[in-house]
Amino acid sequence: MNVENRYVTIKHPIEGKPLMSDFEVRTEQLTLEIQKGSKDVIVKNIFVSIDPYQLNRMKAESASQKASILSSCISPGQKIDAHGLGRVVESGNDKWKKGDLITGFLGWEEYSLVKPWPEPNKIEAVDQFPLSCYLSVFGNSGLTAYAGLFHIGKPKKGDKVFVSAAAGSVGNLVGQYAKLAGCYVVGCAGSKKKVDLLKEKLGFDDVFNYKEEPELMSALRRYFPDGIDIYFDNVGGEMLEVAIANMNAFGRVAACGAISEYTDKKKRARIDMMDVIYKRITISGYLASDYIHVYPDFVSMTSEHLSHGRMHAVEDISHGIENVPSALVELFEGVNIGKKLVQVSEI
Ligand SMILES: NC(=O)c1ccc[n+]([C@@H]2O[C@H](COP(=O)([O-])OP(=O)(O)OC[C@H]3O[C@@H](n4cnc5c(N)ncnc54)[C@H](OP(=O)(O)O)[C@@H]3O)[C@@H](O)[C@H]2O)c1
Repeated sequence: MNVENRYVTIKHPIEGKPLMSDFEVRTEQLTLEIQKGSKDVIVKNIFVSIDPYQLNRMKAESASQKASILSSCISPGQKIDAHGLGRVVESGNDKWKKGDLITGFLGWEEYSLVKPWPEPNKIEAVDQFPLSCYLSVFGNSGLTAYAGLFHIGKPKKGDKVFVSAAAGSVGNLVGQYAKLAGCYVVGCAGSKKKVDLLKEKLGFDDVFNYKEEPELMSALRRYFPDGIDIYFDNVGGEMLEVAIANMNAFGRVAACGAISEYTDKKKRARIDMMDVIYKRITISGYLASDYIHVYPDFVSMTSEHLSHGRMHAVEDISHGIENVPSALVELFEGVNIGKKLVQVSEI
């Protein structure tokens, strides 16, 4: 059987903030058939994930492109692989049969041909949580938050934790985990709506709108009069500089992302290394994929907290493959609250 498959691509390499005019949606004819002997599966995508790292793949050059095949450069016209969740419609592989729901590297498209590696995960139980949770709180963002906080931040009861982009997909979970670990948690975010959600629903001790602070250094001194023990960094740039300046001895920085630098190289952080040395601060960059081995612990802890209402999944879902470009553009404008997903077909 032949179907029309709409997919998103870029028209040219993107430097700076992404614009709608950088993208196009193309249509191809796809035969829903697996070649004899192939172990591939064809998936009808339901949700696709919108993630900041994709922008670095769309540049002519970025250090991230050499790190892994999963963050390699995207050429104009090329399909864009991305985390997604979908239903198997054809299978050449005994591990996944027609009708199974899987998450894995699918693509910004309506149907994806999925290779056996990186291996997709079959979703076994789908009745306890909404399906989208398997791509948000139980997906890469959740693992990123869990691994960065617990394995790099190593929180102890009473530690003072600062989280940037705190209302985002990763940040909101970091704050929730840190509260559950008995820490004092302050976040920063870019709108009043985000600040209110973090304080009123997600239990952050305090939150400030960094866009309204004339001076970030004095803001952090005000929110952390006793210094910061753990900084969970999603943004890099000036926020990283001032967080380091306000850290306590033996502080830990989980260097998760540097979104403020993705659109402007000139914003690169200039860290005072004397602070790092004399305060014996550990700054660790990491990728969620380094922590696949903790996935079972992460899922078990998170599902326990979610099912008892001690944690909340925050998602921001748009609809239709044609809305993938605007979803990415809006991530860099701070429009999203929680995990940004686009639903491209009915469940
Ligand atoms: N290491 C890993 O394995 C890994 C995995 C996933 C994500 N990440 C990184 O983690 C960070 C957060 O990712 P996410 O998926 O959770 O995205 P997200 O936080 O859901 O969305 C991005 C948010 O970043 C903020 N932002 C956008 N431009 C900014 C700027 N110039 N300066 C400061 N803040 C800005 C916006 O919130 P405001 O309204 O608050 O500005 C926006 O809503 C990103 O840097 C991403 O690359 C790393």
